[in-house]
Amino acid sequence: NPHKLQMEAKTVLERSNCRAKGGSPGFNVAILGASGGIGQPLSMLMKMNPLVSVLHLYDVANTPGVTSDISHMDTGAVVRGFLGPQQLENALTGMDLVIMPAGVPRKPGMTRDDLFNINAGIVKTLCEGIAKCCPKAIVNIISNPVNSTVPIAAEVFKKAGTYDPKRLLGVTMLDVVRANTFVAEVLGLDPREVDVPVVGGHAGVTILPLLSQIKPPCSFTSEEAAYLTSRIQNGGTEVVEAKAGAGSATLSMAYAAVKFADACLRGLRGDADVIKCAFVPSVVTELPFFASKVRLGRNGIEEVYTLGPMNEFERAGLEMAKKELAGSIEKGVSFASK
Ligand code: NAI
Repeated sequence: NPHKLQMEAKTVLERSNCRAKGGSPGFNVAILGASGGIGQPLSMLMKMNPLVSVLHLYDVANTPGVTSDISHMDTGAVVRGFLGPQQLENALTGMDLVIMPAGVPRKPGMTRDDLFNINAGIVKTLCEGIAKCCPKAIVNIISNPVNSTVPIAAEVFKKAGTYDPKRLLGVTMLDVVRANTFVAEVLGLDPREVDVPVVGGHAGVTILPLLSQIKPPCSFTSEEAAYLTSRIQNGGTEVVEAKAGAGSATLSMAYAAVKFADACLRGLRGDADVIKCAFVPSVVTELPFFASKVRLGRNGIEEVYTLGPMNEFERAGLEMAKKELAGSIEKGVSFASK
């Protein structure tokens, strides 16, 4: 009896809306690009996060299926799906945190900048929606090239009059995750015990691991430092080549995105000492955006940390990183101000 089924569906929706409003301590989170290679495992992991009470899944394709599937998980978050531009506003209204993995990934032989022509427009449109429907949300940008898409987001928010530099973060967590893993491998440690700050940006030489500042303190030979730096900078390309045309990092990225989103939510909740690396509006160097350690709190970014003492190898890396970053930032700004 289809009518009975419809009635049941309506009751279920009312109950879940009621549950979502029912004083649950969690936050409202939207994932834009939720059906993609990153989006699907990211949606699954966010459904498992106890800090999330409402999870909105938005994409231009396949969200009904992904939402139906994920909604069967017996965890607390209420899941709702949104398909296509007409539903973007409903997807965004009331959100505390928006995570954006929308856009095309790399194929072998491509740089992240090769994605600019397609992804810049996608990020611009989605950010216009954020400015309109949830201007106070924390925004986590994953869509590449992050070094340009974060400046695009800032320009869109400025135009809309909603820009708050404390709430805009480019996700570079995967660089930190890789650095921790590769360094632990060389040192014979458990990766969970290792913390490598990675600064600069999120592409090639702009990815600058500060091996002289790792925890636990440890020194490397110049060969080890050169090997590790290069492997961390090329970690993404390693995956792109192994996938041989089927895309770029998705599973490790979803893991990293959740680690970062969880830190943002813990900050919003008021936890102390939540510190992560991210590509953010910055005065740490002469560039308007730069990745470094930031402290996350109730307003988003509460503090952007300076780079700290660097050795000669790292200082040379910093100069290379800044040169490339300046061009990528400018490219984003001029696209958005057109
Ligand atoms: P994918 O192609 O598997 O998924 C992208 C999803 O975005 C698709 O479901 C697609 O329908 C959706 N989409 C396209 N246009 C959209 C729009 N206007 N609104 C909403 N959704 C839209 O790609 P994948 O592997 O998930 O990668 C997504 C992005 O993340 C790429 O730009 C990739 O380069 C980037 N990335 C970033 C990393 C980082 O460390 N920040 C690491 C790995 C990937």
